Amino acid sequence: MDQQRLETYLASIAPALPPVLAEIEAEALEQYVPIIRKSAQRYLQWLIAVQKPKRILEIGTAVGFSGSLMAYAAGKDCKITTIENYEKRFEKAEANFKKAGVWDQIRFLKGDAAEILPTLDGSYDFVFMDASKGQYIYFWEDVKRLMHSGSVLVTDNVLQEGNILDSHYAVCRRDRTIHKRMREFLAMQMQDEAFACDILPMGDGLSVCLKK
Ligand SMILES: C[S@@+](CC[C@H](N)C(=O)[O-])C[C@H]1O[C@@H](n2cnc3c(N)ncnc32)[C@H](O)[C@@H]1O
Repeated sequence: MDQQRLETYLASIAPALPPVLAEIEAEALEQYVPIIRKSAQRYLQWLIAVQKPKRILEIGTAVGFSGSLMAYAAGKDCKITTIENYEKRFEKAEANFKKAGVWDQIRFLKGDAAEILPTLDGSYDFVFMDASKGQYIYFWEDVKRLMHSGSVLVTDNVLQEGNILDSHYAVCRRDRTIHKRMREFLAMQMQDEAFACDILPMGDGLSVCLKK
């Protein structure tokens, strides 16, 4: 099936985003901020409607688009902790959360997730990991610790435009480290007996893991 045609068709029948989220999305795209694609947006909204999380952890805030989308999907009594390390995005993210009317639901942690995750405690019902692909493998132990039985982890961009299927030698030298780390990360998730995981070929690939 032609993925692009499917995406165009689904986008034509899916409900529109609330106007304020559409504005934040359009501005982010205009400024080349990498935000979740339409198919991943729909899937997050659907999963959140099913799972009804009250505590969400997001790794990779960017300018607050997916955080705001999840806050809308989960409702007012859901709190979202979101982590971002790129200083130039801090101000815009905060402004967008305020513009979307969800700032009171947000705990915005500014810094490197590799340093912040070990300091977090308690547990989260839903985790959305959308940061540097090469680092997912290093976040995995902490993310696992921060999940309880029934928690769901969604990780974005795991198929690397299909490159993940290529052999190590077919990948250009520059991308080999990320390719290797992502393959190790996906195998680790899939083989972890404490989790039920699958990888969905939507957007740039989402992995979905339920802690048993
Ligand atoms: C793909 S963007 C996130 C998009 C956002 N989730 C959305 O869809 O609206 C990834 C973000 O993760 C941030 N990031 C990358 N590595 C990080 C790290 N180690 N700690 C915190 N943030 C990180 C980047 O600066 C970038 O803004």
